[in-house]
Amino acid sequence: MLHAVIMAGGTGTRFWPASRAATPKQLLPLVGKATMIRQTYDRLEGLVTPEQTLIVTNQQLVAPITGQIPELPATQIVGEPCKRDTAPCIGLAALLVSRNDPDATMLVMPADHVIRSSNHFQSAVKQAVEMVSKGQARIVTFGIKPTYPAEIFGYIHRGAAIDTRGDSAPSYMVKHFREKPNAATAAEYVSSGDYFWNSGIFIWKAQTILDALTEQQLEMLEHLNKIVAVWGTDKQAEVFEKEFTAIEGISIDYAVMEHAKNVAVIVAPYDWDDLGSWLSLARLLGTDRDENTIVGKHLGMNTRGSIIRSSDDHLVVTLGLKDCLVVHTPDATLVANKNDEESIRNIVKLLEQRG
Ligand code: GDD
Ligand code: MG
Repeated sequence: MLHAVIMAGGTGTRFWPASRAATPKQLLPLVGKATMIRQTYDRLEGLVTPEQTLIVTNQQLVAPITGQIPELPATQIVGEPCKRDTAPCIGLAALLVSRNDPDATMLVMPADHVIRSSNHFQSAVKQAVEMVSKGQARIVTFGIKPTYPAEIFGYIHRGAAIDTRGDSAPSYMVKHFREKPNAATAAEYVSSGDYFWNSGIFIWKAQTILDALTEQQLEMLEHLNKIVAVWGTDKQAEVFEKEFTAIEGISIDYAVMEHAKNVAVIVAPYDWDDLGSWLSLARLLGTDRDENTIVGKHLGMNTRGSIIRSSDDHLVVTLGLKDCLVVHTPDATLVANKNDEESIRNIVKLLEQRG
């Protein structure tokens, strides 16, 4: 049976001040009316039931996510006691779904992506599930044609084409997976034409990922096994806290994908974007005549190339601004050079230190 696992424990600090610890970007309606997590959940409609959907997040976000998706049974939202990146999150999910369904197939997806067409997304997932069940590959990834030498994505080196039916998306065996290369390597990859960006969405049998973690991350798996052994008992919270905290954080891309064999890539037949920062939001929403991206109430004179976001009907007025980022929230306002957006992470760190 197919089980969807939504990873929703990230922090999204580059969207400060809209994104905060208690309301990170997955809980914000950044594109469209629904929050990112609600959109991710709705994308699965008809593909899996609520009982076949597991959201793995951090403890603090369990309540707000439950509020966003009230139809999800309480057992289907797991709140990690601390952030340990995506490999432990996926390992835990694999153990949990395979308890009642040893042959479970998993669709693993991030909660912070914009995918415009659910239909195309679902047909690609079905194609991947079929490839895994036929044994054409043990792991299926979804590749995005790169448009620039991004250092923030994983790269998939495509190999031989896989023979597929006429109506399905093209797919290839994968020669090699490389997580977040430096700029020079990324530029080589992009110009070769043989690489895709990894969209961060994976299909595999739960057992495949457990085998891979046994090979690459035995200690992690041992901690996770101890947690699952007491799952649903009165020891769960205590053991979860102790064992999960003891795990060394690592992403699935470094822990498994860079070493994985028998991997295929489907060329994603849907529009995709990783919503990572205010600039990426502006790229998605587009710009007006003055090359501004405006969200909320704004009046501007001689304002160009800027990203301005207000909330709660608060009016932001700008005069003589160029290439600025202005984000107003009820208790904090950011005014920055938009090309300095990477520094937002540092600002958030500084604020945390100050308490
Ligand atoms: N439960 C949980 N726990 N979820 C987490 C944690 C954690 O500790 N850390 C991150 N996540 C969630 C995030 O909320 C996000 O939805 C997803 O896992 C991916 O994490 P990111 O931190 O956003 O990863 P990335 O964007 O740097 O890289 C991944 O995605 C790229 C595409 O967007 C990689 O898979 C890259 O290879 C890929 O190109
Ligand atoms: Mg991401």
